[in-house]
Amino acid sequence: MKESPPAPSDLLEKVTNLAKRRGFIFPSAEIYGGFRSAYDYGPLGVNVLRNVRDAWWRSMVQERSDIVGIEAAILGPPAVWAASGHLDTFTDPLVDCLRCRERWREDKIDGVCPNCGSTNFTASRAFNLMFKTQAGPVEGEGATAYLRPETAQGIFTNFANVLTTMRRKPPFGIAQIGKSFRNEITPQNYVFRTREFEQMEMEYFVPPGDADQWYRYWLETRYQWYLDYGIPDAWLRRHEHAPEDLSHYSRGTTDIEFLFPWGFDELEGVANRGDYDLTQHATHSGVALDYFDPTTHERYTPYVIEPAVGVTRATMAFLLAAYHEDEVAGEVRTVLRLDPRLAPYQVAVLPLSKKAELETVSSELLERLRPHFVCDYDLTQSIGRRYRRQDEIGTPFCVTVDFESENDRAVTVRDRDTTVQERVALDELVAYLAAKVGTRTR
Ligand code: GAP
Repeated sequence: MKESPPAPSDLLEKVTNLAKRRGFIFPSAEIYGGFRSAYDYGPLGVNVLRNVRDAWWRSMVQERSDIVGIEAAILGPPAVWAASGHLDTFTDPLVDCLRCRERWREDKIDGVCPNCGSTNFTASRAFNLMFKTQAGPVEGEGATAYLRPETAQGIFTNFANVLTTMRRKPPFGIAQIGKSFRNEITPQNYVFRTREFEQMEMEYFVPPGDADQWYRYWLETRYQWYLDYGIPDAWLRRHEHAPEDLSHYSRGTTDIEFLFPWGFDELEGVANRGDYDLTQHATHSGVALDYFDPTTHERYTPYVIEPAVGVTRATMAFLLAAYHEDEVAGEVRTVLRLDPRLAPYQVAVLPLSKKAELETVSSELLERLRPHFVCDYDLTQSIGRRYRRQDEIGTPFCVTVDFESENDRAVTVRDRDTTVQERVALDELVAYLAAKVGTRTR
């Protein structure tokens, strides 16, 4: 098999086209001409999103005894965002081009208008990224609500609830996955930066003296997670923020950057938020948000270490890293080498013909496989064409039912990456595939 990875310049176009053509990602409200920077996830896209969320939740919550999950509300009162600092400081610098009137984020354009090339702009002003709305039928100040711009604050406002109901003591973490909203000035680069997106965030509460050690621990743990799910080391790097670039709450932030087609850019942020958030919410709400250690008799406000990543941004990185073009039997094929745990289907069942006896075995097979794997079933066109279709959407295993299957109670399993085929007994198939997919069978 010969490798010919596409040049980074057309990788984005190729992945975008594939994602649209094969039902992963559609422009939102497309029949009305689209809605800038919003995307809808199709039948294959939702499977990948769900797998990415599950993979994160599995490693951050299910497989650990020190982290629990919550789901907080998306709509919040102004008091939360006044305390968090978002009403005052969650801004981007906005400039208008004096020639073409386009608006830009000043820190992203290097002084030149990307639309018309002009270098004349208005003075920069702070633009708040929060989406403001009204809650209830009465308009006015008392009805103002905000869509959350990060999931983190719902964790801080529930700190005391979780601490007491779950009998926790630092170090412990609270994880959350959910939608966030930011009125980005220049949403761009496909699903990389959108106004509506989904985050996976975990706030890890630690004794202040242990914060540095946990900061390093989470940076390495999260970096390893991407390697475990198939992103090559060469496509990842760490970027530590200079003190002058830190967010208002941060004592230290390192981004895990991914090699996007336009260069290395932020995939995930790992921050040491110190005691900023708990102190702010305690001051603004009047409710104590600290921890009394019964062994040392010390009362302290824990520091927070936060790994935070976008589900949609991570999905984009997994798709880009998985996209390959190689040569099989003299023909170029497109193949998504997604980790089997992230692929939209883990198994495709492909009867060699539409004959009734093959359909009977195929139905029995699907019944056995579906409790364990997400399966596709494809009857149409030649087997070669069907393999190519499954390769293109990243299905790691194709199971072919042939005329012998009914007699020898066996099927042929083809591996997406090596294209090697193996005969496997029907009774052994679930265990065989489970070992390869790397998930537990029920
Ligand atoms: N609670 C900290 C926080 O929200 P952030 O760096 O602003 O930090 C964390 O966001 C992650 O969320 C980013 O690393 C990125 O993966 C994702 N993210 C942020 N803004 C996004 C946007 N507009 N579109 C898609 N993903 C976004």
